[in-house]
Amino acid sequence: MTPAASPRSVRLTGWGRYAPPQVLTNADLERMVDTNDEWIVSRTGIRERRVAASHETTASMGAVAGLRAIRTAGIEVDEIDLIIVATLTPDHWMPSTASLVKEAIGNTRAAAFDIAAACSGFVYGYATASAYIAAGLATNVLVIGSELLTRFLDYSDRSTCILFGDGAGAVVVSASDEPTSPVGIELTTDPQGAYMIWLPAGGSKAPSSLETITRGQHKIRMEGKETYRFATRTLASTGLAAVSKAGWSQDDVDLIIPHQANIRIIEAVAKGLDLPMDRFFVNVDRYGNTSAASVPIALAEAVNSGRVKQGDKLVFIAFGAGFTSGAVALEWTADPARGPVGEAAVNPQDVSVRQPVDWDSVDPIPPALAEVLARPLPGHLDLSDVVPGEPEHAAPRVG
Ligand code: ACO
Repeated sequence: MTPAASPRSVRLTGWGRYAPPQVLTNADLERMVDTNDEWIVSRTGIRERRVAASHETTASMGAVAGLRAIRTAGIEVDEIDLIIVATLTPDHWMPSTASLVKEAIGNTRAAAFDIAAACSGFVYGYATASAYIAAGLATNVLVIGSELLTRFLDYSDRSTCILFGDGAGAVVVSASDEPTSPVGIELTTDPQGAYMIWLPAGGSKAPSSLETITRGQHKIRMEGKETYRFATRTLASTGLAAVSKAGWSQDDVDLIIPHQANIRIIEAVAKGLDLPMDRFFVNVDRYGNTSAASVPIALAEAVNSGRVKQGDKLVFIAFGAGFTSGAVALEWTADPARGPVGEAAVNPQDVSVRQPVDWDSVDPIPPALAEVLARPLPGHLDLSDVVPGEPEHAAPRVG
């Protein structure tokens, strides 16, 4: 990376998302654990979440969302000079998922690294991208949040397996010669919560072994109540700090894109900020908690569905394991009409991640999800009996 003139103004110029087409409903979960739709909807607001297919990975989903964001921005893939992937579910411990994404999207010149800040990861990534650009170290940064959480869940633990889903979202953050309103950024970390949401084994403290696997230590564990308390205490204050750093009051905010963990948490934040719920974008009912992917998926849906116009004041707020939290307050400058164009320009089936040499593949699908993933995709009409030779997935729902 060659340093350029600094400081430069920073603009969000591209956005995109990808959600795997297969759906895991509350009714499916009722068949796996002792739970029910009424409990899940009333305690979390979640009705369904997406599940990645066996050929999909965090990198492949991130690459689709990232390419869509690049197409939306209207730049060439090689104009990206830094790729940041926020994830807690990387394809491998090493290399970084960002390096796999770089190859999958066909970029030849970007630096690439991952960020580990759990569900706040995208907001941390956005802050990092802004700092690189303002310092003159990068011109166009691709920030991706991508998660494949369904492979890290304990499908006998009803308090966690109902919450999470898979997906990816991305933005392009670019240097601009046009003046931009001040951006407010606030990041916090409270290590008191370090073991409130965690994945005990597989790291240097408890390397993978038969024993760690037998103990179920490779699955996400969570103290739900403590996490809930932290989220409701912290999200409003982090959001307010970012709003005040941008020089606004909370009444100036047009739309908040919150981390989609739980509708009750979002309602508590609305109360804490004394703002009506219609200033919050909500899609937790359809995706559950997609961790670092949650804010950029929600952003892309908010913009593409007409909820955002040029000049609007937006705030992204997130919290997650660590405990971390983060907020970004920015004025929207891009043309919202570009979003659907970028989304349509990338077919997920055209994007793939190179396999390692001699890769001896294991089936990555958790046994509890095998039946769900074997189902025809929603929207797919199975004509194999009546139309000989019809392609197997003639009309998959585009994620
Ligand atoms: N179905 C039915 N009953 C359930 C379920 C379920 N899926 N899960 C728990 N219960 C039971 C509990 O066993 C308990 O029963 P008991 O009273 O007989 O002991 C009862 O429901 C109440 O359980 P609580 O844990 O008190 O339920 P709560 O209202 O706190 O809701 C929840 C639980 C939804 C997990 C909530 O605490 C929460 O949303 N916490 C935040 C979680 C979160 O956002 N995590 C992501 C953080 S981001 C990241 O970085 C990964």
